[in-house]
Parts: sequence; structure tokens; C-alpha cells
Amino acid sequence: MIYDNVLQLIGNTPIVKLNYLPQPLGAQVFIKLEGLNPGGSMKDRTALYIISQAEEAGLLQPGGTIVESSSGNLAIGLALVARQKGYKLICVVDPKISPVNLSIIQAYGAETVMVEQADEYGNFLRARIDKVQALVQQLGAFWPNQYNNPSNPEAHIQTTSREIYEAFGKELHWAVIPAGTCGLITGCSLGLKEHIPQIKIMAVDAVGSVTFGMPPGVRYQIGIGSAIVPGNMRRHLYDEVTHVSDAEAFATTRRLVKEEGLLVGGSAGAAVFAALKLAERLPATEKVLAILPDRGDRYYNTIFSDEWLEKNAIELDKHTVKI
Ligand SMILES: Cc1ncc(COP(=O)(O)O)c(C=O)c1O
Repeated sequence: MIYDNVLQLIGNTPIVKLNYLPQPLGAQVFIKLEGLNPGGSMKDRTALYIISQAEEAGLLQPGGTIVESSSGNLAIGLALVARQKGYKLICVVDPKISPVNLSIIQAYGAETVMVEQADEYGNFLRARIDKVQALVQQLGAFWPNQYNNPSNPEAHIQTTSREIYEAFGKELHWAVIPAGTCGLITGCSLGLKEHIPQIKIMAVDAVGSVTFGMPPGVRYQIGIGSAIVPGNMRRHLYDEVTHVSDAEAFATTRRLVKEEGLLVGGSAGAAVFAALKLAERLPATEKVLAILPDRGDRYYNTIFSDEWLEKNAIELDKHTVKI
């Protein structure tokens, strides 16, 4: 297959069966490998869809400017798509961003603006949103506003969920989906429930995230979890919600690389941790799919660094045996 441009590589990611981590008597566990999008995460889909919708609605003029707040993956997706379509991107980031992501965003040609004011739990979301709003006003720029923009879940109704029901037909019982802005989970829930009526959705959140009414706390997982309740959250669409700790997520991420050969990120580890626990209580005839949002090479200095884990008092050993 020969493609005309890099944007045509977005989507149509593979689905793979897990062969070593699941318990032999439980349900079968599959994963959808979103890290194989060209920018390295499922946020390429969101970026492409939001920008295309904004073009259609006349919110973006040729050569226009886009401003967004992102911890990394949406920024990378937007940087890729914006540049290919001839727009300027300004990304509002915070000191928690990994130096690797910062370099990737800049390599794609986007500008970055760093905020410095954290809340009492070390979260920068409020400061980032304030900065975005100021820049949008000042520059007359387009703000994708991923927490509230309906095009964020719509991207996954149109693409991700369609790919899943086309692959499984009606033979899928659970989808296990990490929640950050809730674009991925809300879009997949809507698309999947329409085509596979019996399917159940499990939302995977980080311990320390407030999305589902838990108290705020320190967390090191990136992308999954939120310091505010996202406008795109639709609690009635998610049949169960589970909270995964940093240690549980990162221990599973490391096992995925070693045992399944899948070099994926921390929210992928969280999703698989939740999927494995779920699969244990289901019959072997059932199928569970976990969506793994990004690839692992961005996390060499964090999740895959013993030094970094020790510095942040994240102990993995206790958790590897719990699965
Ligand atoms: C690595 C990772 N996992 C999960 C998510 C959550 O996806 P969503 O924001 O669509 O809920 C994100 C979002 O940026 C992410 O970057």
C-alpha cells in the first residue's frame, strides 16, 4: 500500500491477543495498539478530526493559529496535523511534561509556552487553561478545547469504535478504556453500544484523579486522570469505573514489554491491569478488549527508569504479583 501523505496513516491500528499475561481460565484479552498511529498515540485521530471540523465550520482560516493545553499526546498529534495542513500551533505545557515530549513537539515545528503555577496537589491544569484563554483572545486563535469539544469523542465514534466493531462483529463483551478528557471513552462507548448492544464499558481512571468523584491526590500517570471533571465525561455510558494506582499501572506496563513484546505507555498498563482483573471473573468464552493509547518509547526516563521510580517512591514489586 502506498499512501499520499502521513495523515492517511492515522487510524486503522491493529488489534492483538494477549497470550501470556491473562489467567488461562478467564476471558480472552485483546488490545488495540494506538501507539502505531504516526504521532505515537490515539490523539492523532482527535487532532485530525478536530482540525477538519474547525475547517468545515470556518473556525480556522488558511495559515491560522491553533492554541491548546496538552500534557503531551494531543500536543504531538496537533503539532503533526497542524504543520501538514499549514497552521501554526502554540502548545501550552507545564513543568511535568517529559523532556522527550517537549522535544518531539518542537521537532514537529510547534511553539511551546510553559506555565509555572501549580495547585496544592501539583496539578497545572487550571494555570494552563487560563494561559490558553489569554492567548486565544490576544491572537484570535482557534482553541480545540479537548475537555469540552464534542469533536473529541466524535473522532472515536467515527474511527476507533468503528474499527473495533468491524473487527469483532458482535463478539465482544467488554471494552476497557482509559479516561483523561473522556474523549476516547465517550466516543467508543457511543459507537460500540450502538453496534454491539450487549457490550459493557469499563472506565479506567488514575488514583488521585477527580473525574469520578474521588478525592484529588498526587499521581504520576500521564494522560489518564484529570484534576477537573471533563465536559466530555458521560458517566451513564460507562458500566463500571475502576481506579488504578501508579504502581499497578507501571508494573503492568513493564510486564507488557517483557512478556508480550508490547512497548506501550503508562495508561496502557493501567488499562491492561484493569482488563486482566476483569477477565479473571469472566468465563473463558468471553472477550475483553483494552485500548492502549500510546507507545512506550516516550517513557524511558520515567516508567522504565528504576531511578525515577525510586525518586518518586513508586514501588512496583508488590503489584506485579497481584494480577
Ligand atoms: C497516554 C494517554 N492515555 C490516555 C489518555 C486519555 O484519553 P482521553 O483524553 O481521550 O480521555 C490520554 C489523553 O491524552 C493519553 O495521552
